[in-house]
Amino acid sequence: MAFIAALSGEVFYRYGPYEELLPQWFLSGFARTLVAELDDRPIGYVMLGMNKKWGNSVKIAELLAIAVDPHHCRCGVGEQLMRELIEMAETLKVEILILHTGVRNLHAQKLFRKHGFSPVGIKDSFYQEGQRALMMEKKMSHFPTSRSVPDDAQYLQ
Ligand SMILES: CC(C)(COP(=O)(O)OP(=O)(O)OC[C@H]1O[C@@H](n2cnc3c(N)ncnc32)[C@H](O)[C@@H]1OP(=O)(O)O)[C@@H](O)C(=O)NCCC(=O)NCCS
Repeated sequence: MAFIAALSGEVFYRYGPYEELLPQWFLSGFARTLVAELDDRPIGYVMLGMNKKWGNSVKIAELLAIAVDPHHCRCGVGEQLMRELIEMAETLKVEILILHTGVRNLHAQKLFRKHGFSPVGIKDSFYQEGQRALMMEKKMSHFPTSRSVPDDAQYLQ
């Protein structure tokens, strides 16, 4: 968990106190985290938030954060984490995966588009430091093609 706090502080400091938020989410019981290791040392993570309000509604989960140690960026670690996250979401029968990312975070957006995410909207002042977020979604294989996303879909905030 110290690794998640340290890396989150390093890469997300512009957006808010993510060195505190990510460990809280990690311990919350509603998130699942995959950690990438090299020589038994953590070098990246991705966190999936499960929506507790699924009920009879569409099954939505949120990619809460993905981060790779800058010393190991551009080596395919982010790619691998995305593949495994999507596989985990499929196993959990998630119908729609959503995420939020900074509107200027074009590198991350490129990674997300590569994995089938499409932009669905922009949220003003989404981050504590005031930046806007691009919301993206990916319809999973469990999403029935005949179904549309209900207006009352319980997106995580
Ligand atoms: C985004 C991030 C997770 C990518 O991890 P990574 O291990 O460097 O990614 P990979 O080496 O697996 O690259 C995968 C794809 O991401 C995109 N990408 C990642 N870094 C990029 C860069 N510097 N320039 C352009 N595209 C980039 C590309 O599409 C790339 O595929 P390609 O090499 O075929 O073009 C990493 O840069 C990071 O931790 N950034 C800071 C945290 C962050 O912004 N997270 C996203 C918001 S939650």
